[in-house]
Amino acid sequence: MSLSLQVAPWRQRVDAHLEALVARSEAAPRLQAALRYSLFNGGKRLRPILVYATNQALGGNSEAADAAACAVECIHAYSLVHDDLPAMDDDDLRRGQPTCHIAFDEATAVLAGDALQALAFEALSDPRDELPSTTQLAMVRTLARASGDKGMVAGQVVDTQAAGGPMTLEALETMHALKTGALIRASVTLGALSAGADTAALKALERYAEAIGLAFQVQDDILDIESDTQTLGKRQGADIARDKPTYPALLGLEEAKAKARKLQATAIEALAPFNDRAGLLRAIAAYIIERDH
Ligand code: IPE
Ligand code: IPE
Ligand code: MG
Ligand code: MG
Ligand code: MG
Repeated sequence: MSLSLQVAPWRQRVDAHLEALVARSEAAPRLQAALRYSLFNGGKRLRPILVYATNQALGGNSEAADAAACAVECIHAYSLVHDDLPAMDDDDLRRGQPTCHIAFDEATAVLAGDALQALAFEALSDPRDELPSTTQLAMVRTLARASGDKGMVAGQVVDTQAAGGPMTLEALETMHALKTGALIRASVTLGALSAGADTAALKALERYAEAIGLAFQVQDDILDIESDTQTLGKRQGADIARDKPTYPALLGLEEAKAKARKLQATAIEALAPFNDRAGLLRAIAAYIIERDH
């Protein structure tokens, strides 16, 4: 079965849960519109799919993964709305449409990002969820650490301060692991928590997640050079225009591609202890470095 057919039900599933989450919003119509605009405009849903795929690999119950799937997508959507702001990457195109601050205004985009972040934790801590509260708490903590000053935000700080300056390969890898890798790793960890993974399984899955998390940003950097604005849905060449430190900038395109392939192999190796139920995780590792947007 093709990957897009395999993931279609998970996409629909997370969309339905996100829709229910936003439908309960009590904010002014303009903020609600900005939340919807940022959540339902053609994202690939990679992070929620990783939550479900990990739950599936461990033979878990997918209902236990629903809140986590929503939560990671809310954090991701918020990170993009803020990443595109004039104070950060100053981008005007996202998923083929004007970025949130262009379609609305800067204040609304800042606030929509803030609200999406809070919504993630509201979803994870929902008392109606049938997960044990100890599991819910572990999920909240996992996502909080991956999103903030120990994860995504820490990486974004390095990114915004590094443009134009020199960067070692080691520092670049750390930046990527934080700004993009942390949330991808958290998606896998949350999926594992939803299925009650043991320590050995968790360790193997985290090795997988670290590799695909880094590979995802390496490929994002490659696509900024090789793809086109239409396919990407965001401006091609934006990194070069802003002199961003990227793998291709530091290593050259061919070395960057070799790095991505190596990371994919590491990810597949990490899944060796798992049976066929990890098929979707394996397919995702390939997709991450083969994707064109
Ligand atoms: C883009 O993420 C930002 C990075 C972390 C590189 P995605 O490529 O997953 O974005 P969408 O959600 O599919 O638009
Ligand atoms: C995005 O990195 C990382 C986060 C949003 C956390 P980029 O700045 O490279 O993402 P794009 O290329 O704008 O999607
Ligand atoms: Mg950025
Ligand atoms: Mg950006
Ligand atoms: Mg990019």
